Amino acid sequence: MKKLLMALLSGLMLAGLAGVASAADMSALAPCKNCHDLSPEKRKIVGPPLFGIYGSKPTIEGLPADYTVWDDARLDKWEEKPQAVKPRSKMNYRTPSPEKRAAIIAALKELK
Ligand code: HEC
Repeated sequence: MKKLLMALLSGLMLAGLAGVASAADMSALAPCKNCHDLSPEKRKIVGPPLFGIYGSKPTIEGLPADYTVWDDARLDKWEEKPQAVKPRSKMNYRTPSPEKRAAIIAALKELK
């Protein structure tokens, strides 16, 4: 009984730590929801689904050849101005603030 209690308690503590470790502000992605599905259902709305996008291969056409993975640097450029990465991109949404872009990228990392 004591062992069970200890196991339960340490499980709770681990869950608590995991909660702190993933304290990204998911509200940073609120504007994206107008055009992107953020859920694991991965539906296409106006743009492609974003669940699991961090660390993945881009699904869209027309990006520069070195856009082989959506990592911090590439996402940062994309969020700042998609048309600077892909001329005539249909993503008409820019995030000029570096702080906001960092928050967006941190939140995208949690979509997995
Ligand atoms: C007005 C609609 C709109 C909004 C708002 C928007 N996007 Fe997009 N997004 C698009 C479209 C359309 C595309 C496809 C662009 C293309 O093919 O050029 C896209 C593509 C993307 C891609 C490439 C995905 C892939 O599969 O390779 C990423 C990453 C992305 N958007 C992230 C975001 C994030 C993060 C936000 C919120 C900060 C956001 N977008 C807000 C419309 C939008």
